[in-house]
Amino acid sequence: MVTLVISEIDKSIGPGDIVGAFINEVGTDSNNIGKIRIDKNSKKAEVEVELASAAKIIETMDGNQIGGVKVNIKAKNPDDLVDKEIMDYYNKFSQLLQLEREEEIDRHKLEIKYLSPSERQAKGRAMLDLRGKDAGTAFGHKPLVKFSSKYSGKKLPETEITTGDLVMISLDKPLHPNNPTGTVAEKTSYSITVAFEKHPPEFIYSKGVRLDLFVNETSFDRMFSALEKVKKPQNKVEERKRDILLAKKGFKNAAKSKFQSNFLNQSQIKAVEHSLAAEDFYLIQGPPGTGKTVTAVELICEAVKNGAEVLAAAQSNTAVDNLLELLVEKELNVIRVGHPIRVNKKLRKHTLDDRVLKHHSYMEAEKLRDEVSDLINKQDSYIYPGGKYRRGLSDQEIKEYAERDIEHHVRGISPRVIDEMASWLELQSKIDKYFKQIERLEKQAVEAVLNKADVICSTNITAGSEILEDFHFDLSVIDEATQATQPAALIPYFKADKSILLGDHKQLPPTVINQKAAGEGLAKSLFEKLSELHGDDALSSLIIQYRMNRKIMGFSSLNFYNDSLRADPSVADADLSDLGINPQSEKCFTEKALKAEFPMVFLDTIDMEAAERSLKASSSYDNPVEAEIVLDILDRAVMLSMDEHHIAVITPYKDQVDLLNQHNNLAEIEIDTVDAFQGREKEMIVFSAVRSNDEANIGFLRDLRRLNVALTRAKRKVIFIGDSSTICEHQSYKNLLTYIKRVGLYYRL
Ligand SMILES: Nc1ncnc2c1ncn2[C@@H]1O[C@H](COP(=O)(O)OP(=O)(O)OP(=O)(O)O)[C@@H](O)[C@H]1O
Ligand SMILES: [Mg+2]
Repeated sequence: MVTLVISEIDKSIGPGDIVGAFINEVGTDSNNIGKIRIDKNSKKAEVEVELASAAKIIETMDGNQIGGVKVNIKAKNPDDLVDKEIMDYYNKFSQLLQLEREEEIDRHKLEIKYLSPSERQAKGRAMLDLRGKDAGTAFGHKPLVKFSSKYSGKKLPETEITTGDLVMISLDKPLHPNNPTGTVAEKTSYSITVAFEKHPPEFIYSKGVRLDLFVNETSFDRMFSALEKVKKPQNKVEERKRDILLAKKGFKNAAKSKFQSNFLNQSQIKAVEHSLAAEDFYLIQGPPGTGKTVTAVELICEAVKNGAEVLAAAQSNTAVDNLLELLVEKELNVIRVGHPIRVNKKLRKHTLDDRVLKHHSYMEAEKLRDEVSDLINKQDSYIYPGGKYRRGLSDQEIKEYAERDIEHHVRGISPRVIDEMASWLELQSKIDKYFKQIERLEKQAVEAVLNKADVICSTNITAGSEILEDFHFDLSVIDEATQATQPAALIPYFKADKSILLGDHKQLPPTVINQKAAGEGLAKSLFEKLSELHGDDALSSLIIQYRMNRKIMGFSSLNFYNDSLRADPSVADADLSDLGINPQSEKCFTEKALKAEFPMVFLDTIDMEAAERSLKASSSYDNPVEAEIVLDILDRAVMLSMDEHHIAVITPYKDQVDLLNQHNNLAEIEIDTVDAFQGREKEMIVFSAVRSNDEANIGFLRDLRRLNVALTRAKRKVIFIGDSSTICEHQSYKNLLTYIKRVGLYYRL
C-alpha cells in the first residue's frame, strides 16, 4: 500500500467523498482503497491505496476537485510510487556502494585519525616533513608545486602514492576540509610534483608539510547519481534503458544492418552488424586477443559515418587510452576527456585540455590574462581598502569622497588614502570584468572543442563529470566492461541512446575492496547482468585470437575457456626469431630463456635463496633476487638487439615494480602491475611472481584472472619467474608448471 496525502480539503469532506471521487473520476477499484484518515485542522487527509492505482489517482486528481473544492494529491513518500523491483535494485546498489565508500574512507580518514603520522608514512600512504616549491604551471594554468624533504638532499620515503593519484596537503591538521588537494604529476626518489586546480594556500610552501593519499569522493557521487536515474529517469531514453536493465523490456533488434570490412573476420563483422541493428544495447564477448577492442573501433567508425555522436568509455585510464590510440589512427575527430596526467604521454595531444589551449577563444582569454595581470600589478601600488584604512566607509562612500575631490580628512582618513583606495576599487571592478570575460571565453573554447568531436573518450566515471553534463550521445561503447561495477558502467550506459558493452569475465573483475559489498553483488558487472537477463540473443562471441603464439594461448584456453580459443594462422607459430632474436648458445640461462623455440619459459628459483620481502606494515612485497634475474634477462634481450618497446615486465606487487624501476636503465621497457597492461600487448612478457615463503602463501596471486591477463599480453614469449615450492602449492600454478614443462622450457636456476 502507498499512502497518499490530500491537502487543501474542505472541512465538510468525509471518507465517502474521497472514495467516491477515486471510483468515479479515476476508475479505481474500491478494493484498492484502504484506510482513510482525515485531519480537519490541517485540512489534510491520508489515504492508503494499492501501488497499482496510486500513479493514476495522482495524475487524475492532483489539482482536480473533491466535493467541489480543488485539492492537491501526492505520495507521502515519493519512493513508494516506484515499482518494487526498481526500488530493490536501487536500494541494494545504494547500500553496497555506501559500504564500499565507507571502506575507502575508513582506509584513509580513519587511518589518518588513528595512526600516528609516522605509522601512516610507514604504510606508504603519507609523506611527512616536506616543503613545497613553485614549479610553474602545466596543462593550461594548473599550478605545479614540487615537494621534497625539508632536509636538503634526503630521499623521500617509499610509498604507494604514484603519478595520477589524488593527494591532500596539510600542515598540522591532515583531516581539515579546507586542505588543498591535487594530482601527482611526477614522482622521483627525491621529489613529488603535484598539479593543483587553483593556487594552493601559502602554507604549503612552509617547512614540514604533509602529503596524504586521498579518497576521491567525486567518483562515488557520480555513481550515486547514475543510480538515481534508475529510480527516477530524467527522460524517455533513461527510462527505456532502465527498463532494459531490469528486464522489464526485452532485447530488440531493428532491421538487420549490413556491414563490410576488409580487416575484420566473419564473427567480428557479425558482432558489428548486431550492434548496429540493436535498439538499446548489445554485448560482445571474447577471450584475450580476439579483437574486441578493434571491433569496438570499427563499430565506432561505422556509427560516426552514419552520423552518430559517440562516447567511448572504459573503467581504467589504460583501457581508455587503448581505445583512443586506435581511434586516432582513423579519420575521426577524437577528444580525450580527463586529467592529462592520467593520460599516456604519447596521447596527451588529444586531451581536451591540450586541444582547448589551441582554440582561438582560449588564446584570446590568454591575452586578457596578461592584461589583467598588469592591472593586478598596478593595483598593488595602491592602498588596499582594508578595515584599518577604510574605518567603516563603504565602497560606494570611498568612491564618492574621491570623486568630490575633498581636501579634508574623513573619519581620520586623509584625502590621499581615500583616492588610493578609490583607485584600488576601480581597478578591482575592471579586474572582475576581465575575469568574467576570461571565464566566458574559456568555457566557449571547451564547448566548441567538445561540440566538434565525433568521438569523446573518457573513463566511465569521468563520463559523469560536469563538463559532459549537457552532452547526450547516440552511442556509448564500453570496452573492458567486465571490469566495471554496475553503478560505474551505468554512467556511460545512461548517457547514450544505445550502448555496446565489450568484455571478458575471465579477465580483471571490478575492483571492490569491501568484501561484503563484493559478495552481495557489487563485483558483478553490468555486462554479466545484461547477459544473464537477455541471453544469447543479445550477445556475440569471438573465438579467433590474433595475438599469441598457440603455445602461449594454450594455457589460457585450457584453463579459462574450455579449450575453445583458436589462434589465427598468422600468429599461431609466431616467435622471437621473426624479430631476428634467436640465440643459439647455451652459455647462460638468459640466452637459453630467450631462445625462439620456447614461447613459454618457467625459471624456477626453488634452489636459490630468493625470499620475498615486505616493508613493515605494508601489504606489498618485493623480491630482490627475482628482480636481478629480470634485469639480467632484459639486458640480454637488448644486447641481442631486441627493441625495448617490445618488452614489458609484469609483476603483481607494487613494491616489486618500484624496485625494478629503480634499477632498470632501459627507459623504454615498461615495468608495471597487471592492471596497467590490460587490453594491451607486447612481443615479450617477463613475469615476476615475487612470493617465496615457507607457508606457501601466494596472496593475491590467487586471483587467477590476473594471471590470465598477465600471460595473454605476450605475442611471442612469456618468461615466468617464480619459486615453484611456494606458488605451485596452488593448483593453477601447478598446472602452469606442468604445461610449460610440456610445451616450453622449464629451468631450475
Ligand atoms: N580480424 C583481424 N585480423 C587481423 N588482426 C586482428 C583481427 N582482429 C584483431 N586483430 C589483432 O589482434 C590483436 C588483439 O586485438 P584486440 O586488442 O582488439 O583484442 P581484445 O579482444 O580487445 O584483447 P583483450 O582481451 O586483451 O583486450 C591486435 O593486434 C589486433 O590488431
Ligand atoms: Mg581489448
